[in-house]
Amino acid sequence: MNLRIIPLLFLIFIGCKNPEKSSPVIDQSLNITPKPFNITKGKGYFKLNGNTSFLYNDESSKLIADFFIEKIKTSTGHAFSVTKGNDIKNSIQLIKETTLNFSEEEYRLSISEDNIKIKASTDKGLFYGMQTFMQLLPFYTTNSQISFPIKIKALDIEDKPRFSWRGMHLDVSRHFFSADFIKKHLDILSLFKINKFHWHLTDDQGWRVEIKKYPKLTTIGSKRKNADGSYHQGFYTQEEIKEVVQYAKERFIDIVPEFDTPGHAIAILAGYPELSCDQKEYKVRNLWGVESSILCPGKEETYTFIEDVITELATLFPYEYYHMGGDEVPKDQWENSIECQKLKKREGLKDEKEVQSYFMARVEKILSKHHKKMIGWDEILEGGITATTNIMSWQGEEGGIKAANEGHDVIMTPSEYCYFNFYQGDFKTEPLAFGGYIPLEKVYNYDPIPKEIEEDKKKHILGAQGNVWSEYTYKDETIEYLLYPRIIALAEVTWTQKENKKFDDFLNRLNPIYTILDYYKTNHHIPLPEGPTSNTIVFTDSISIPFTTTHPVKMVYTINGTNPTQNSTVYKEPLKFTKTTDLRIASVLDNGKMSSIRKLNVTKEKIISASSKTTELSKGLTMKEVKGYFNTVNDVPDHTNASSSIIKKIEESNTTYHWGHEVKEENFRAVFLDGYIDIPEDGVYYFSSTQDQVWIADQLVLDYKTPLKKHPIESSIALQKGKHKLKIVYLNNIAKGWATDWNTIELKYRKASEVDYKAVNEDMIYH
Ligand code: ACM
Repeated sequence: MNLRIIPLLFLIFIGCKNPEKSSPVIDQSLNITPKPFNITKGKGYFKLNGNTSFLYNDESSKLIADFFIEKIKTSTGHAFSVTKGNDIKNSIQLIKETTLNFSEEEYRLSISEDNIKIKASTDKGLFYGMQTFMQLLPFYTTNSQISFPIKIKALDIEDKPRFSWRGMHLDVSRHFFSADFIKKHLDILSLFKINKFHWHLTDDQGWRVEIKKYPKLTTIGSKRKNADGSYHQGFYTQEEIKEVVQYAKERFIDIVPEFDTPGHAIAILAGYPELSCDQKEYKVRNLWGVESSILCPGKEETYTFIEDVITELATLFPYEYYHMGGDEVPKDQWENSIECQKLKKREGLKDEKEVQSYFMARVEKILSKHHKKMIGWDEILEGGITATTNIMSWQGEEGGIKAANEGHDVIMTPSEYCYFNFYQGDFKTEPLAFGGYIPLEKVYNYDPIPKEIEEDKKKHILGAQGNVWSEYTYKDETIEYLLYPRIIALAEVTWTQKENKKFDDFLNRLNPIYTILDYYKTNHHIPLPEGPTSNTIVFTDSISIPFTTTHPVKMVYTINGTNPTQNSTVYKEPLKFTKTTDLRIASVLDNGKMSSIRKLNVTKEKIISASSKTTELSKGLTMKEVKGYFNTVNDVPDHTNASSSIIKKIEESNTTYHWGHEVKEENFRAVFLDGYIDIPEDGVYYFSSTQDQVWIADQLVLDYKTPLKKHPIESSIALQKGKHKLKIVYLNNIAKGWATDWNTIELKYRKASEVDYKAVNEDMIYH
């Protein structure tokens, strides 16, 4: 040991002799999320020290004390003692009084100089009181022994939720996520008083729950062979489900299992084709989108199957609500099925929508044998629903409004507010997501009770839920990125009274929440520097580049080719450049955590002269095709000798396009378009496309690089008026569930000074 530091250690020891004097008083009362119903500040403070005890007055609430003591121990290393008793000094008291006139989730947290009291009429109320208390303390911010005492300002919190349904949904069919991952997020969600986890366990792209009576649901239905030959698979054993259910129970979260019927069911038919109308050979779907092969409601075996599966699910999920899907049911097979037509006649059903209503009503009857209530997506309203059916409104709010006004209970999940697989920032800047645009503020300002709901029907809106569909989430981190903090905004939407909500205030409260999320090693979203829609920015003289973020956060940047740190120059106003620059910019949170870094090539270029070959050209481009499945442009064999044709419009290079059509392997190919593009006037031009490569004047302007091409990419180039060589490469395949021929095949352009793109039309292309 270095002897010279011993006196220094001694001084530190002396300095710490009376740490109580120096410890600050914590006043986190403004930092509770979701914002409580009412907070009254008191006088003085409570001193939490190593001798503070936890008291409970009822055996079942001991479990709650134990639960939180364990959490505190994990984060701080300190274990408090838990004892039965009441009203002693220096204690945290869990007081359950079943006679209190409190609603089920209501609690009161009173902090005085003598003790801390959490009162509720249920364990759930006590649990939420403790979750609030935990947010007052620095436990999540430290991984080491806490230094006592912690002084906590006296206050009194009365709190209860606005809605009883505060949910999160996860699709584990398109991509499977482990039981441990689910548990991690149940734990985090419970901090913010989320109380429903909607587990989307079955869909066309994979069946994910073990059913002992139907083993092929998992031996066949849980495995998907992707178009590139790779496999995706996974399911939860019944033991794993029971563990997750127990874990959720300890956190007062109800799980809502979804068994999607009668559509989204080809993973069932892959193992049990006899449950379809046409009994073909089926494969688990390796494309996103909706499968047209579905369960046959005209066969009794279908109901036997559903009853058997529900009987097993009922042993696993001891909950009131079961979600039976009902969304996106293409009914063509039913129209052509002898059994369905017989059923229609027998039951006097007007059309296939009423066939679905008949089917859902039978499913509901099966559920009711197990004392379960049925929820269905809003499509099931089309043919009519039973009086006891509950609706989850996703296509918008209309279904929910209609259902609530008719007296059905409703959960609001309108995609334009609640689909967290949608982008939360500009899709040109954010990592790949499904589509759409739901920034944090839009979620926060959502009101689950639309004005069209009649006064006496408002009670039918049980609450709202954030949904994450997993087509484009290949990793745990991506789910986290999409979820947080938007689900926390939704927690406040569903818990907090409308008049207590303010977005700016919520943003301030996000700062301590980011620290909690870091404690849980959660990859939450940080708004990215937006503005430029491409990372290649060409200019000819000088340029000014403005940046923004979806909600206020600091941005920092460098112009010397190094990555910015939290201490780099702070962005204040549009950045001006007169020479080529390597610009790197990122956002920084108050806790110093940085977003990913945007690297922009701001490039001064001379205008590229037009081609001298401007005569003898004809309209259109030459097209050469090479059949086959190619992941990248480099995989395509030499195509120089392939036969060529002329196309008049760029769109003609995709002969198969229309959304929802059957994607056929015989259409997989590489397409090469060659010719010239006629540029209307001198200037810097931006181009945008979903094609793999676009070359202009022999420069690779657009290079998608990844086989999955869902949204257009953009880039810029300085061009002289006149004709320039143009080459486009387009690979038609299925990449990670997305069929390229669903893309709109076009090339768009705009001048740098313009906002809107125009199509490169038939008057602009020559060969
Ligand atoms: C849904 O998004 N198909 C419910």
